[in-house]
Amino acid sequence: MTGTANRPLAGFDVTGKRAVITGASRGLGRILTRAFDAAGAQLTLVARSESRLGDVAEELTGDPLVCAGDVRDAEFNARVAEQTVARFGGVDVWICNAGVSPEVAEVAKTDPDTWREIVDTNLTGTFLGARAAADVLGEGGRIIVTGSVLGVRPKGGLAAYSASKSAMHSLVSVLAQELGPRGITANAVALGWFDTGMGAHWHRDPGRLDDIAAHTALGRWGTPEDLPGVYLFLASAASAYVTGTTITADGGYALV
Ligand SMILES: NC(=O)c1ccc[n+]([C@@H]2O[C@H](COP(=O)([O-])OP(=O)(O)OC[C@H]3O[C@@H](n4cnc5c(N)ncnc54)[C@H](OP(=O)(O)O)[C@@H]3O)[C@@H](O)[C@H]2O)c1
Repeated sequence: MTGTANRPLAGFDVTGKRAVITGASRGLGRILTRAFDAAGAQLTLVARSESRLGDVAEELTGDPLVCAGDVRDAEFNARVAEQTVARFGGVDVWICNAGVSPEVAEVAKTDPDTWREIVDTNLTGTFLGARAAADVLGEGGRIIVTGSVLGVRPKGGLAAYSASKSAMHSLVSVLAQELGPRGITANAVALGWFDTGMGAHWHRDPGRLDDIAAHTALGRWGTPEDLPGVYLFLASAASAYVTGTTITADGGYALV
């Protein structure tokens, strides 16, 4: 046995890892931020709202770098990379988690500008983040993309969102091939339903609340406790041979 193979839990340690988390100001990104902070990672927090990021930073035990800006902007992503390297000396993990889903409408009634906003934020924002990450990640680097079960099992009324997430899952497969020779992995997490962001709108509707639970193998929505484990695994040495894949964390929604 070599390396940490005879100390298997050591491979899950993310202490000191330098991680960029986008969409860190609220919702699932805020939950991930708290978890990575508690696990000893050094964090760069990204979202558009500087004041909300400041609130999140104050809750943490570590001293994160706050980078307020828009993930749709290529130069902003490059600045996040540069500033993280300047602050922490490098980047080990880049979590592309920022995303939007502003409306539910069938394709015939979807406004083209809304389509562009969703695809630009979710897909192009992830591409630009991965592009900036590829410049600064070294051997053992990690790109983790927040996908969606709707990218695996697309849903009527959510065309732009479903298509953007499917394409993000495809993007990690390409990234894995291109970055594998440098020892960098890229994976997506296809999340199920959580009471944040778009999910919160559905959670407030009693019909949808129950319908989604009934269509989930575990019979319930995701909770904050259900979220961080898969990200911590993908960020750690324990996942060194996992790349180019989409891991579902959906309670079995895609199955039912
Ligand atoms: N909630 C669910 O049930 C669920 C299920 C599957 C997947 N997801 C995915 O999980 C991720 C987080 O969702 P959530 O539920 O936590 O949503 P949320 O509460 O609305 O949070 C979205 C985050 O993304 C940031 N953001 C949005 N547009 C941005 C932009 N252009 N540039 C920089 N940051 C931007 C937001 O901050 P600012 O507004 O300050 O920029 C916020 O921090 C998304 O990718 C979403 O698709 C969610």
